[in-house]
Amino acid sequence: MVTKFPDDFFWGASTSSYQVEGDNFLSDWWEWEQSGAASPSGKACDHYNRFGEDFSLAKELGHNAHRLGIEWSRLEKEEGVWDQTEWDHYKTVINELVKLDITPIVTLNHFTIPTWLSRKGGWTNERSPEIFARFASKAIEKLGNKVQYWIAINEPNILAILAYFRGQWPPCKKNFDEALLVLKNMLKGYVFAYRDMHEAAIREDQIQPPKVGIAKAVTAFHPCSPYSILDRLTTYNRAKFHNHSFISSAIKGRVLLPRLGGEKLPIKNAVDFTGLNYYFRQFIHHQKPISKNPFGEVCSLEHHTDAGPTTDMGWEIYPEGLYEVVKNFERYDLPILITENGLATTDDSIRQRYIRDHLRQLLRAVKQGSPVIGYLHWSLLDNFEWDSGYTKHFGLLGVDYTSQKRIIRDSAKYYAEIIKTGTV
Ligand code: FCB
Repeated sequence: MVTKFPDDFFWGASTSSYQVEGDNFLSDWWEWEQSGAASPSGKACDHYNRFGEDFSLAKELGHNAHRLGIEWSRLEKEEGVWDQTEWDHYKTVINELVKLDITPIVTLNHFTIPTWLSRKGGWTNERSPEIFARFASKAIEKLGNKVQYWIAINEPNILAILAYFRGQWPPCKKNFDEALLVLKNMLKGYVFAYRDMHEAAIREDQIQPPKVGIAKAVTAFHPCSPYSILDRLTTYNRAKFHNHSFISSAIKGRVLLPRLGGEKLPIKNAVDFTGLNYYFRQFIHHQKPISKNPFGEVCSLEHHTDAGPTTDMGWEIYPEGLYEVVKNFERYDLPILITENGLATTDDSIRQRYIRDHLRQLLRAVKQGSPVIGYLHWSLLDNFEWDSGYTKHFGLLGVDYTSQKRIIRDSAKYYAEIIKTGTV
């Protein structure tokens, strides 16, 4: 009988390049900040220079895996022109992890894109899938002998919705059809990248074939009223679209998106593992006519007296949801990696409980045979939380942004104990 997490489980934390490195001034997000639309990211955690110190702290805390991003806008400063100095930088960063016996898990696209691409329409450009895949296979060429696990794209749905439908992130568009087009191009970009990365590894004679996946934002959707058939129907629709459509398209080799569906993709089964970013539950209620709004609306937590407390992001803390989404993704018969899970809080004792409760739920799934291969907490460091700037504290390590001093939080030590014993 399984009583613990597996011995070869990946334990660690996640970051993304833009949120921690600092000075990513050739990225579309930076340009947007400069326009005064949002608070500037500036030096962030200066992780570009301080990665060595950060990785030693992760090591001290027992981490054996680390998710990090490489910033596309540094590596391809102009279309098709590669910056060898920057590739060398990331080689050094990855070697540092390898030296510490920490498995690197590398994200290629975590929301930001180079400004030369955003000026050409970003992900709405019909060439964007190929342009992204070219970058992805270059990454295999340059770093593939040290990195096996790759997250080609982080949370495509979130980018499409927040940047192209809600107008909250650059380029601040409010057009659902455009959001769907972005999602479709990201899907194609992902599948092309998967294909080209595998081909590049063969071409480069790399011993280990890469394992390529995405980090998918997943929500534990519940019907607002479990007795309403229409609430249940819209909840099902929403989960199908938000949680599953991207991955199931990549697996089935066909675009399975509303309004834009049908197109055949060049390959099937383009997923080696599923990365899940899980944060919260949402209650969904229907809105008539369902034909016009098949995904319903999110119901306010005020109407749900049984809902848990919320974090500084206003997200409900619902640990069972981690169990629910993991069980829900067993259907793909692929290894599952928790690529993000965490909370914004200034009360570290809440973080400690959050880690305990979520890992209990994860262990529950593992005991039942779920193929979970690792857990990466969001985040290693307090960092730049997109349009919330530096106001949200997600880190196992606190950061004093003036002195750039790192502070090890008690929750980080608590997590280290869990890692040590393999149980919670
Ligand atoms: C996820 C993002 C990550 C971080 C967390 C809080 O949606 O992937 O960059 O901002 O939320």
